[in-house]
Amino acid sequence: MSLLPILRYPDPRLHIKAKQITHIDAGIRQLAADMAETMYAAPGIGLAATQVDHHIRMVVIDVSEEKNQLLTFINPEILERSGECQGEEGCLSVPGVYETVTRAEQVRVRAQNLAGETFELAADGLLAICIQHELDHLDGKVFVEYLSRLKQDRIKTKLTKQVKHHERVIA
Ligand code: NI
Repeated sequence: MSLLPILRYPDPRLHIKAKQITHIDAGIRQLAADMAETMYAAPGIGLAATQVDHHIRMVVIDVSEEKNQLLTFINPEILERSGECQGEEGCLSVPGVYETVTRAEQVRVRAQNLAGETFELAADGLLAICIQHELDHLDGKVFVEYLSRLKQDRIKTKLTKQVKHHERVIA
């Protein structure tokens, strides 16, 4: 297993729409394992393949306290959304930024697992928010796009400066 580099907003590759996975092979299983390791190490509660520059429809999520309830979603789709809730979100691709986003309170999702079996899951609370956040990544959408244009520009400026500063330090 290995840690994967995470793309940082405003990297344009975060806006690539991910493709369906047609065949779950050893490469997909290895990527899923590496994504889980990368998510736990970050630490984060979810990671989409898009964020590690693989533009295929797979996400890993673990919202448990003990970090022992790993969920892998392949070709996930939201079948139903209901209710509305607001929560503060962050993203491993947008370090240091936390903003309130309005989402559906409950979702019903269908996906495949690593064995290729189709399953359905009803989620609410943090898991529902995380599923919506990660599925957005697969469609090339980063959570800051729910914010005002002004806030988005401020975040872009802040993160671009951080990258430049970082490059200067390591040069
Ligand atoms: Ni994210």
